[in-house]
Amino acid sequence: MKKSLVFVVSILMMLSMILSACVQKVEETTEAPAGEELAVGIVLPTKDEPRWIQDETRFKDALGKAGYAVEILFSQGDSAKEKENVEALITKGVKVLIICPQDSTAAAAAAEAARAAGVKVVSYDRLITDTDAVDYYVTFDSIAVGEAQAQYLVDKATGTGLPLYLYAGAASDNNAFLFFEGAWNKLQPKIADGTFVIKNSAEAIALQDKATLTRDEMGKIIGQITTNWDFNVAKNLAESNLTATTAADKGEVFILAPNDGTARAIADAFGADKDVTKYWVTGQDAEIASVQYIIDGKQSMTVLKDVRTLVADAIAAAVAFLEGKTPAQTHTYNNGVIEVPAKPSAVVSVDQANVKAAIVDSGYYTADKFTGLEEIGAEEPVAELGEVLKIGQIGMMSGAMALYGQQQQRGFELGLEYMSGGLTDDQGRYIIANRPVEVIVKDDEGNPEKAVSLALELIEKDGVELLQGPVSSASAIALTTVALENKIILMVDPAASYFTTGAYFNPYVFRTARTSFDDTLIIAKYLVENVGPNFAHIGVDNAFGQGSGAALKYSVEKFGGQLVADIYAPFETTDFTPYIQQAMDSGAENLFLTWSGTGYVTLFQGLSDMGTLEDMTVGTGFGDNVSFGAVFPEETLNSIGLNVYHYTVPENEVNDWLVENHLTKYNEYPDLFTAGGMASAIALAKALEATGGDATGDVMIPALEGLQFEGPKGTYHIRPEDHVCEQPMNILRLVNLTPDKDGDGINEYEFFETIYVSEFDELGVPCTLAGDYAARCGDLPTIPVP
Ligand code: BGC
Repeated sequence: MKKSLVFVVSILMMLSMILSACVQKVEETTEAPAGEELAVGIVLPTKDEPRWIQDETRFKDALGKAGYAVEILFSQGDSAKEKENVEALITKGVKVLIICPQDSTAAAAAAEAARAAGVKVVSYDRLITDTDAVDYYVTFDSIAVGEAQAQYLVDKATGTGLPLYLYAGAASDNNAFLFFEGAWNKLQPKIADGTFVIKNSAEAIALQDKATLTRDEMGKIIGQITTNWDFNVAKNLAESNLTATTAADKGEVFILAPNDGTARAIADAFGADKDVTKYWVTGQDAEIASVQYIIDGKQSMTVLKDVRTLVADAIAAAVAFLEGKTPAQTHTYNNGVIEVPAKPSAVVSVDQANVKAAIVDSGYYTADKFTGLEEIGAEEPVAELGEVLKIGQIGMMSGAMALYGQQQQRGFELGLEYMSGGLTDDQGRYIIANRPVEVIVKDDEGNPEKAVSLALELIEKDGVELLQGPVSSASAIALTTVALENKIILMVDPAASYFTTGAYFNPYVFRTARTSFDDTLIIAKYLVENVGPNFAHIGVDNAFGQGSGAALKYSVEKFGGQLVADIYAPFETTDFTPYIQQAMDSGAENLFLTWSGTGYVTLFQGLSDMGTLEDMTVGTGFGDNVSFGAVFPEETLNSIGLNVYHYTVPENEVNDWLVENHLTKYNEYPDLFTAGGMASAIALAKALEATGGDATGDVMIPALEGLQFEGPKGTYHIRPEDHVCEQPMNILRLVNLTPDKDGDGINEYEFFETIYVSEFDELGVPCTLAGDYAARCGDLPTIPVP
C-alpha cells in the first residue's frame, strides 16, 4: 500500500472556523500523529491518470496551508484496496467520506461500511450505485459532457457518409453511460440522416435508428468500444479498428473519444495511419498534456470540468454535514436504489479557438505549462455560423411604464453587442456562441394574460428559444408557467418581485433583476441605524408592492426595527390622503414607499401637501432619470434613497462601455433598467458560450446556475439554489433636481451623491422557495414563507 498522503490544510477563513470545532490541529505538514482524529477522508481512484492527480492538487490548494488534517488515499484501480482505504479512514474516526469509486457497484460495500459507522458518504464525480448508503453526490453535468463532445463533431461535419469511430469509458463507471447517453443524443440524429456512418461497432449500428437507448442497450455498445479508461486498451482498440477497416473507411474521420488520456492514445493511433487524412477527436478533463495536444493540433477539443468547482462543492458538502446541515441540492440522480441529492456543475467546451481564454486567461493553468500558445489559431478557418437564435423579449412598450420597457430593450441589445464584440452577420444580427441572434420584442402592456399569450405565440409561431423580461411583476409570475411547460429559459429583468424566484419558482426561471429584498435590506439597514426603528409603508396594491412590503418587514426586523403600518393603495389612486394620513398616524419615524411609474408624482404631491416630508423621513427607491424631476419635488432634496442603478455610480469597464455606447447610439445616458437589460444579455450570452450555443432549457440550467459575471453594476452571481441574482445596490443622497445642470442641451441627470454601494454578496437576500423546492435553499438564509 502506498504511503497515504497527509497534508495540512487551511481553508478559507469561513471553513477553518467551521472545521475548528470538529477537527484537531496538526502541527506542520507530513503525517498525522497515530490516532489523530480526522474529520474528512478522501478516496480517489488512481494516481495513474493525470485527471485524479488534478483533483488531489486542487483539494490541496483549496484546503491550503495551516490547520487541519485531511487524508487523501488512492485506490489504484482496485476495489478491494478502495474498501481497505475506507475502513482505515473509518478507524481513524472520519465523520465525512468523500469518495470517487473505482467501480460504481463494487463501492456500495465500502459506502455501507461507512454508513454503519455513522460516516456521511459524499460520492465524488462518479456515482456509487445500488445502495442507499450515499448521502450526497458532487458532480459535473456528465450528460452535458457527452453532448459537448458530440456537438463538436457535429459542428465540424459537412457532407454525408463521414466515417465515425466511437469509443467509451469503463462499463464499471456510471459516468461512462452518462457520457455516452449525452453523445448519442447529439450523434444519433446525424447518423440517422446519413451525415455519419459508424465504422467500429456492430452493436451501435444495430441500434442506430433508436433515438434513446436503454441502459442495457448502451451496455452492449460500450462492451464493444470500451477503453476501460486505460490508454493502452484505447490504443490497441484503435489500432485494431484501423486494421479491420479499409482506406475507404478513413480519409477525414470523426472520433468520439471519452476522455483526454484515451483521446491522446487514440489520436496517436489515427495520426499514424497513412489513410487517415484528417481526424477530429474529442476528449474531456483539460489535462495539461491534452491542452498541449490541442495547441499542437493533435487533439481537437476537450471538455473543461473545472475541478476547483467540484472540490469546493465537495468541501461545502462536508462542512454542511459536519455542522449537521444538508448540502445545497438542485438535482437528484437515481443510483438504482435511491434518488441521490446533487448539485451538478456546468462544463465548458474547449478547442483551439478558446483554449487560451478558457484555460490560461481564466487562471486554470499558468501559461508556462504550454508551448506555442501565442501562435495558435493563426490560420484557423472562419467557423461557419450556426442557426439563428431567436429570443422573445416581453416588455412594456406603452402605458405607465413604457420607459422601463425601452430601457430594458436598449440595455439588452447593447448587452448582445458587448458580448459579441460587435461581430454581426450579413443582416446585422449580433453573433453569440457562433449563432446570429434575433430579438423579437413584444408589448404586454403590463397585462399578465397578454404576456402569456404573447410568449406562447413567440414560442410556437416564431420559434424563440429564450424569453427575457418582463417589466410587470404580475406578468413575470404568469410567465413562470410558460417557461416550465415549454422547458424554456425565462430571464427576468426588470420585474422585481421575489415571487418569481420564490413561491412561483421553477428550474427554468432565472433573473438578473434584483428582488424587492435587495431594495429593502439596503435601505432598512441605513434608516434603522441613522433615523429610527419604526417604519410605515405605503405600497402599490399588486405583486410588486406586496412583495416589497413583506420584504421591508423582514429587512427592518433583521436590523432591529419594526414595521408598524403596512398600507396598500390601488395603482390607479389619484388621491392619497387617507393612505398618507394612516402612515402619519402610525407614529413611525420612517415612511417607505413602493411605487412605480408616474403615480409617484401624485403620491409625492400628497406627501408635500400634508407636511409628511417634514414630519417623517421618507425613504424610497430613486427611480428613472427621465421622470425624476417631475416626480421628486424640491422638498425631497437631501433625502436618502436606495437605487438599483444610476450610470454615475459604478466604476468598472462594462459600465464605461455601456455609458459610452448608449450615448453614441441614443444621445442619452443609460437609465434605471438599462443595466438590467444588459445584465440579462450578458448572463444569457455567457451561458450560451458555455453550452456551445445550445439554448435548450435543460442544457442552459447548469450553465446559468452559479454563473458569476461582470456586468454594468460590477459583479453579479446567480445563486444555484434559487436563481436569485446577487448584485451591488446603492444608497444615494439627492443633491440636485435639474437634469441638464451644465445647460449643454444633454441631460446629465447628475442628481446624486453616492453614499454607499454594497458588494454583490453582502445583503444576504433570503431564499423563499416553497413546497417541493424548499429543500433547494440548502444553507441560504430563509424566511417563513408568507
Ligand atoms: C471522470 C472523468 C475521467 C474518467 C477516467 C470519469 O468518471 O468523470 O473525468 O476522465 O472517469 O478516470
